[in-house]
Amino acid sequence: MSAIPSRKREHVELSLGTSALYQDKTNGFEFWDFEHVALPELDFDEIDTSTEFLGKRLAFPLVVTGMTGGYADAGRINVALAEACEQARVALGVGSQRQMLLSDEHVATFRVVRDHAPGIPVLANIGGAEVARMRNADDALRLVDCIGADALAVHLNPLQEFLQPEGNPQFRGVLAGISMLVRALPVPVVVKEVGAGITAAVARRLHDAGVRIIDVSGAGGTSWARIEAMRRAAHLPTVSSAFLEWGVPTAEALRDVHAAGLEGTWLIASGGIVDGVMIAKAVAMGATLAGAARPVLAALDAGGPEGLAALFASWKNDVQGVMFLTGAATVAELATRPLRRSIHTSGQPS
Ligand code: FNR
Repeated sequence: MSAIPSRKREHVELSLGTSALYQDKTNGFEFWDFEHVALPELDFDEIDTSTEFLGKRLAFPLVVTGMTGGYADAGRINVALAEACEQARVALGVGSQRQMLLSDEHVATFRVVRDHAPGIPVLANIGGAEVARMRNADDALRLVDCIGADALAVHLNPLQEFLQPEGNPQFRGVLAGISMLVRALPVPVVVKEVGAGITAAVARRLHDAGVRIIDVSGAGGTSWARIEAMRRAAHLPTVSSAFLEWGVPTAEALRDVHAAGLEGTWLIASGGIVDGVMIAKAVAMGATLAGAARPVLAALDAGGPEGLAALFASWKNDVQGVMFLTGAATVAELATRPLRRSIHTSGQPS
């Protein structure tokens, strides 16, 4: 049997502990404040938090980014995520479908997502290292078709592959593979990091390759370096602790990529998003959607489907609150609201 199913289970279990988080670095959204509008001239109830993504309407600008699939218990998690996202009308990504390229054994753990979420945008998922080895789009198309995906997310995770005991740090040819998929697939390709961030320089190369949706997935939330470091066996070289905090904070990555002004490009901001105020800040900094992974899994783990529904309700209410306090009746108006450097009683703005 392949080692992938047990690794996937370990990832889910380890990610739930607080030692899976960046300890010394935040995602940077706290350094920005909205300009408070004391005269919003709006009623709270008339505010429309909905937005469109991949031709479908979301209740508010959120995607639950790819996490799991490919081992027995992942099916249960994916059903719960799919039902909650469908109910809340937010987008959902599945975890890496690499396992599906090796065997059909756990295909159902991915397929259940579309079965339980017929109406929302669903994103398929594969790693950059696998894409580098693809000679054509056949395998990628199979991953997309399996879940009726609206897009394929390709994750770039060089930090994780470098530290992962059984990692695959072979990234030569990834960009050419992405470019091939952009041209050959009938759905858009989303390129995402997994928590170390995408900068303007990398985003420009992706844009040149034809990519039009980028999830900057920056530092400040889940730390894949920490998770893989916990999994490293004693016979491997010890790694410098500097890698554990490696990465560009989400807000910085988003501002950097947005400032590059890449034509026709949608941005997603994930990495350490823990409330709806951060979602609203991401939108005001140029993101179409915010994304979240670990906090969603943690809410499901701690409170089951009700806990997850409560999390989504709270985040949507936060977004609506920000819109009320900034006089924004629509998400398009929220996107124009200014942010200013905040003044902290402790710590220095970066
Ligand atoms: C992830 N993430 C991830 N990303 C991806 O593209 N493919 C994958 O298979 C996985 N697997 C995965 C498992 C688990 C348990 C977690 C928590 C996360 C990364 C995820 O989509 C996201 O980019 C980062 O986790 C940063 O967001 P948070 O967790 O700080 O909200």
